[in-house]
Amino acid sequence: MSEVIFQQKIDSEKKIEPKDWMPDGYRKHLIRQISQHAHSEIIGMQPEGNWISRAPSLRAKMILLAKVQDEAGHGLYLYSACETLGISREELNEQLHLGKAKYSSIFNYPTLTWADMGAIGWLVDGAAIVNQVSLQKTSYGPYSRGMVKICKEESFHQRQGYEIIAEMAKGTKEQKEMAQDALNRFWWPSIMMFGPHDSESPRSGKAMKWKIKRKTNDELRQDFINKTVGQAEILDLTIPDPDLKWNEEKKSYDFGEIDWEEFWSVVEGNGPCNEQRLNHHIKAHKDGEWVRDAAKAYSKKQK
Ligand SMILES: [Fe+2]
Ligand SMILES: [Fe+2]
Repeated sequence: MSEVIFQQKIDSEKKIEPKDWMPDGYRKHLIRQISQHAHSEIIGMQPEGNWISRAPSLRAKMILLAKVQDEAGHGLYLYSACETLGISREELNEQLHLGKAKYSSIFNYPTLTWADMGAIGWLVDGAAIVNQVSLQKTSYGPYSRGMVKICKEESFHQRQGYEIIAEMAKGTKEQKEMAQDALNRFWWPSIMMFGPHDSESPRSGKAMKWKIKRKTNDELRQDFINKTVGQAEILDLTIPDPDLKWNEEKKSYDFGEIDWEEFWSVVEGNGPCNEQRLNHHIKAHKDGEWVRDAAKAYSKKQK
């Protein structure tokens, strides 16, 4: 019975709130998805943090610093949303450190040049926005409200990346080559961010029925590609996909086959930076222990 009422609520576009009855599968799916999302925001600070001390101007440094700090905030909103489902921050961190929880594979690629800061903002935050705009309408209240706030900041992130890549694309020959090289390395991992094809994504059906997801992986990926091709043309950069072609009938772009072997290998932990990212997180967590202890002792004293 409760399940019928629950589904009716979902179907009439009402939000599910923390104290409402929900099926176990719904709760589990949300914990997995929101925690994966939170971990991605936090781990995603590392590849960009790598360039804060090497930004080419004070203005660029301030903007990048603000952007990376925003990502920490996104992680915090999402951890809080996840905690409303009955899991603690300690458990979430432990799952990450033991490799039981995943984060977006894109952050396991290295950032080799300043142009990568452009490519990440333009493509990675660009892809994240497409996904997150649709998640603003997700059925779980705290997740949906968190997304509204996050989306506002993400569009600033996308623009700061686009500005960097645009400046380099119209700079010297070497700068343009760096911009093209960054696009070459980040294009395919960016379109992999939407996950496996719908036909290979077993949990998708329920997530759509429960309106946790409002659009499928393939729909979101297609939206992102359709939006981004024109931007690359304005930049006079070439997307590294010889099969990318406008399809008049579909009114969208056809594109080449994704290397799923690479995708799964990075998911399984064999990407170029998986170990480095996780070890850094574990170390930072350990180094911060005294802060947590001090905060706990202080709050005890206040009681
Ligand atoms: Fe973010
Ligand atoms: Fe972002």
